[in-house]
Amino acid sequence: MSRKLFVKTFGCQMNEYDSTRMAELLQDSHDLESVDSAEEADVILLNTCSVREKAQEKVFSQIGVWAELKQARPELVIGIGGCVASQEGAALRARAPSVDLVFGPQTLHRLPEMLRQVELDRRPAVDVSFPEIEKFDSLPTPRQKGATAFLSIMEGCSKYCSFCVVPYTRGEEWSRPLDAVLAEATSLAEQGVREIVLLGQNVNAYRGATDDGGEADLGLAIHAVAAIPGIDRIRFTTSHPLDVSESLAEAFAEVPELVSHIHLPVQSGSDDVLRRMKRNHTVAEYLQRLKWLQQARPGLSVSTDLIVGFPGETEADFQATLDLVEQVGFDHSFSFIYSPRPGTPAADLVDEVSVDEKKARLRRLQQRLRELEEGYAMSMLGSRQRVLVERLSRRSDEELAGRTENNRVVNFPAPRSLIGQFVDVSITGVFSNSLRGKVEPSEPLRDV
Ligand code: SAM
Ligand code: F3S
Repeated sequence: MSRKLFVKTFGCQMNEYDSTRMAELLQDSHDLESVDSAEEADVILLNTCSVREKAQEKVFSQIGVWAELKQARPELVIGIGGCVASQEGAALRARAPSVDLVFGPQTLHRLPEMLRQVELDRRPAVDVSFPEIEKFDSLPTPRQKGATAFLSIMEGCSKYCSFCVVPYTRGEEWSRPLDAVLAEATSLAEQGVREIVLLGQNVNAYRGATDDGGEADLGLAIHAVAAIPGIDRIRFTTSHPLDVSESLAEAFAEVPELVSHIHLPVQSGSDDVLRRMKRNHTVAEYLQRLKWLQQARPGLSVSTDLIVGFPGETEADFQATLDLVEQVGFDHSFSFIYSPRPGTPAADLVDEVSVDEKKARLRRLQQRLRELEEGYAMSMLGSRQRVLVERLSRRSDEELAGRTENNRVVNFPAPRSLIGQFVDVSITGVFSNSLRGKVEPSEPLRDV
């Protein structure tokens, strides 16, 4: 009987991608079968996030729960990967001695040898270095079950925003060669994938080497992935405003497979705060870049990330953020209270805004973001949407669920044979977290 692996993931989509790769790798090397609960597993891995303090604290309480399992079953192997592991390194074992394995986002491909060391030599294994090039070369070809798949095309971040740990935990920006990206996308398409989400912490900083000694940017990569037979929908995330280029605008103008949506974090609507965040752009520059994209693709919807309560943020700065939200009309956005991260420059700034004030600002902001999101959903009522059917609906076996281009879940009655296909659906109902629809006869893909 094969032994069992449980992988739990906190954090971003890049972590989700990495977790899937880890499970495939250990299935090949150790014949470990993935299961859904830690109680059944012989090896447990936690892929962690340290972007905010709360996420980091969750890691240690999770390890505490698993340490109890290990007391009852001392042969249980516990491994911690991702950004907390990268930041803490060997110190993580000092704080949590039940942990056997510590690996970073760039060393997960070394898991098989690390697991061998733990199981055969009974020695803990710690490796949180950044041997960038190796990672993707050492991973097996992804195996895919659904119609949609993540594909990491670049790693790390070299922007060093003053509040963010990512450049320290994931290393500098590094792009996979274009050929490697296309080979992975082709293999996914052959396994029935119809939608690919191109991933990177700064995915539009992608600069992948090409066969002829040149370099491909994200715009070119999108064109090339769209040309793969079977791939009919492309998303990408997350983008940085500074790396929005004419070439990306061209992709929006020329590639119908690219969805009419971009997630473009702005963080604040105040130039003063943006300067102290080291974002290296102003609000006007952000709006200018957005305009290029919206001119290339009229109706492009935009979501964003916002931070409230950055050190020194005044009521006027916060009001400027609310004004920007109004001006752009963001859909489906994320907002957070600033969380000081050890080792980042902003952690040393004097912070006079009270916790209560920060919480009140977050409530005001989220209230407005929610209203905008609901407004968008309401405006979809009666419209016709192309939906990629992903699975049975959670409400009923007679219904299917899929996503629209702007990433909303739609439930509709239809036969199971449509799972994995695109269908046209007219929207007949709007609920707080989903839409309801009715299948319509299909029309050809949009002409852009
Ligand atoms: N590449 C993206 C960009 O262009 O900004 C950001 C990736 S970051 C890991 C995801 C989001 O987490 C950021 O956009 C930011 O809003 C939030 N974030 C990062 N550091 C944070 C901190 N110290 N406190 C609160 N939120 C933070
Ligand atoms: Fe973080 Fe800024 Fe990079 S938010 S991931 S340092 S673009």
